[in-house]
Order: sequence, then C-alpha cells, then structure tokens
Amino acid sequence: MKRIITIVFYMLSGMVCSGQGNAVFWPIIPLPESIVPHTGEFVLTAETKIYVGQQAPPADFLNVFLKLYHGFGLQTTADSSEANTIRFELTPTAKEAYILSIKPSGIKVTGDSSGLFYGIQSLIQLIGVKTGKPLKLHCAEIIDSPRYTWRGMHLDCSRHFFTKEFVEKYIDLLASYKFNTFHWHLTDDQGWRIEIKKYPKLTSVGAWRHGSMVGAYSDHKFDTIRYGGFYTQNDIREVVAYARARHITIVPEIEMPGHSVAAIAAYPYLSCTGKQIDVQKEWGVFDDVYCTKDSTFAFMEDVLAEVMTLFPGKYIHIGGDECPKTRWKTCPHCQALIKKEGLKDEHELQSYFIRRIEKFVNAHRKQIIGWDEILEGGLAPNAAVMSWRGTEGGIIAARQKHMVVMTPGKPCYFDHYQSRNKSKEPHAIGGYNPLDSVYAYNPTPGVLNAEESKYIMGAQGNVWTEYILTGNQVEYMAVPRMCALAEVLWTPAEKKSFVFFLSRLKVNSAILDRKNIHYAKHFLIKK
Ligand code: ACM
Ligand code: ZN
Repeated sequence: MKRIITIVFYMLSGMVCSGQGNAVFWPIIPLPESIVPHTGEFVLTAETKIYVGQQAPPADFLNVFLKLYHGFGLQTTADSSEANTIRFELTPTAKEAYILSIKPSGIKVTGDSSGLFYGIQSLIQLIGVKTGKPLKLHCAEIIDSPRYTWRGMHLDCSRHFFTKEFVEKYIDLLASYKFNTFHWHLTDDQGWRIEIKKYPKLTSVGAWRHGSMVGAYSDHKFDTIRYGGFYTQNDIREVVAYARARHITIVPEIEMPGHSVAAIAAYPYLSCTGKQIDVQKEWGVFDDVYCTKDSTFAFMEDVLAEVMTLFPGKYIHIGGDECPKTRWKTCPHCQALIKKEGLKDEHELQSYFIRRIEKFVNAHRKQIIGWDEILEGGLAPNAAVMSWRGTEGGIIAARQKHMVVMTPGKPCYFDHYQSRNKSKEPHAIGGYNPLDSVYAYNPTPGVLNAEESKYIMGAQGNVWTEYILTGNQVEYMAVPRMCALAEVLWTPAEKKSFVFFLSRLKVNSAILDRKNIHYAKHFLIKK
C-alpha cells in the first residue's frame, strides 16, 4: 500500500512540477535542467563509502560538509562494485555539466571536473542540515548544465574593506549556488586594496583614509576615524587558490582612468595637476583622474604586470566608468596627446587610454573587460563590456561582436533596496531591486537575434559597499537575491517559476541558517 501511495506521489510531483522535481524532495538552487523522479530512497549513513573513479577529483567538499553538519565523514573504497557507495566519475561531458543519479543501491555523479563539483553542491543541498538519522535521499536522475558561461557576483572591497576570511566565506556562498566568477573590485577613490611590490605607497598611503562618510549622502557628515586595509600578494594567492578549488575564476578590477584618487594620493605625479591630494572620504565621482602622460602608462603597466601574475584568469577588469574629463581639458600633456594622436576630443582620449592598456594586456595573453563607458570614443578591438547603465551598452557591444556581461543597475545592483519599506531597512544607496525582479531578469535582450545573442556571456550581481560596512550586511544585501540570479544564470528560462523557487529557497534557508549567513528574510514573511 505504502509503495502504491509513493508511486502515485511521484507521478503527481512529476506532473505538477513538469519534470522539475519536488521542492521538498529535491530542493536544489539553481533548479537543475531536469529531474526525473524514481521510486525508492538512498539511505546515507556512516557506513556509506565514497568511490572515486580514475582521474576524478576527490570528493573532499562532501566529506567536509558531512563532518561539519552531520558529525560523520565517509570512508573511501577502491572497489567499484561495492554497494552503498557514492561514486564520482570524470567523464568528458559538456563543460560544467553533471548527472546525479540517486538509486536505492547507491549514488553516482558523473561530469567534467566542474560538473562533479556542481554535482556535489546539488548533493549537499539534497542532504541538507536537518540532523536526526537516517539521512534519506529520494531517488531521481538529475541531468544538469548551465545556461550561461559567466555567472558572476561582484564585491566592492574599496569603499569598505572586507577581510580575506570574509572574502573566502563569500566565495563559498557563490560556489554553493554554482557561480563561477568573482569580480573583485580592488581599487577606487576611497582605498587601494592590493599590494603592488613596485609601488609600496599604493598600500602604505593609498589603502588608508582619514575618515569616512557617515549615514546618508545628503547629510554630508564624516567621521575622523582612520579606515583601511589591503590584501598582501600572499593573501591574494591564497584567495585565488581558494576560489579555484571551488571552480571560481576571480576577475580583479583595477580602475582607470577614473576612480583613481587613492592611487594619486600615493603618487601625485599620476594626475594632471601633480598636486598632493588625500584618499577620498566622500562617496561619488571625482575630477582627479589619471593623466594620459607616458609616466602614467608606465605605472599602469607595472601594476598590471604584477596583477596578471597573481590572477590566472583570462579577464582583467580595467574599470573605465565615470571618468570626468575636467582635468584633461586643461592639462597640457593631455591636450598635446589629443593633438599628436589626431583625436577628436577627451572621449576619444579615454578610448585611446583603454586601447593602449588593452594592447599591453593582450600582449600578456589576457583580455580586458570594462564598464560600458569604454564604448565611448570607440571600443578597444578585443574588449569585453560590462553593461551597467541599463542594457543598451551591452546590446551595442554584442552587435559589434564583443563579448558582454549584463549587469544593469535594475535589477543587478544588490546595493539597492530590496523592500519598499525603506524605513525598516539598513540605509542603502537608493533604488529598488526586489527578489522577484531579480528572478524575472533575462540577461539576453529580446532585441538581439540568435547570432548577436551568442555574445552575451551571462550576468552578474554587484555589491557596491558605500553604505555596506560589514560582512553581515553584505550577506543581507546579497542573499537571497544572488540565489535568484543563480537560477537566472543556470536554469533553462522555460523551466523557471518564482513560486517554485520560493518553496525551494525556504528549504534551502535552513542551510543558510546553519552556515551563519545573515540573509534577508522578506521571502519568509506571509503577505
Ligand atoms: C558603476 O556602478 N560605476 C560601474
Ligand atoms: Zn593630463
């Protein structure tokens, strides 16, 4: 009788969820491409063994999770025929794809190395953190692969500094929702955060400000507390390795030619005026930017050479946004360069700056990516574009056959409010990007044809930190909106359902609780 009821339940869940599975049985975020329910359960106990096939990476992440939240780890076995095993097999499937097969006799995960890692993330979500034995997993065949290749989250560590340990906690969070890119915003007007051996003042001077804005921008109030911090090159290497083990590529951002006050405070010759200025205490956009003289390019190339040895990924983010042309307009060096190069105006000078940097980066077999202002005055030949002022920049770039990451302010800026009830929220920069708006986002604009759409690599959630002072607040602003974005970036568009997402998020929140993630709980409140 029980078996008949179970089969009927599976049939219903299959029908109701049209092959997506059931929130309680398979509460995976992002929702897999396909879940085919089968009858029966796999019972996971301390007697279960792990079999790791040839060349498959070890399943350490699973064991760390089990030990931490369930108090036992699994032994490995070399006997491939043994029952009650979790088997991992490296197979030359599509990139980042995996198959997770749960049968009463055992579990099998197959995929490429990223796929196996993602299979483990799904398995961890299925096991969950509910204690009390036995741990039962409902049988199913889960076939999964991502929709986009760039599944990104960003963190601004300049406006406020976050420790290496927090950055690693953030990377863990990204990995658990199958993000593969961490955009690390390392330099800005309010602080330079990466050690550069050739220019020690970047961190001895540029990493510290003598006060910060307090409260709302309109109050224009400042404290006088020395604030700062930076990552040593050893820290960076450790974080890069930490991310790499979690199949996350770090894209470092070194801002130019604007948002460069901290560097200029350290080395005033980099600006048009050469005047000594302080690392900014105020948020905003500032007139002191890098001058376009040769000594600035020599500095930028030295900095980028060190950055490129630290970050093994393909892309270096060179900023490019919000660069006022005020100083360039009256600078003899900049005006002479405009004349010499036959440039029309300061916008073309910005384009010259970015192209010259691109040549250097390309010579080191890396690519640049920049905010969509790098379109102005003409896009550098191989540059990828991050579209933040809406989607228009991304559309133009894709039509020019340039790779694009979509991160429009609406809905991808997670420093914006997530509730209309602003008085009950921590002070934020403004805007309103609720969870459902993130979930509804489609990174591929409908106006692009199939060929143009191929240039959309994916999308990214940005966490700017002018008004985000602590790691707890980063988590509050990022989660669960990043969970919604994860599903946008991974799950086939036609399989998405916000209601179904919320039901899985509720189950998943138990894991967030146990991991001590300070996520926003609006989705738990009944309307
Ligand atoms: C940006 O938000 N200025 C890229
Ligand atoms: Zn100048």
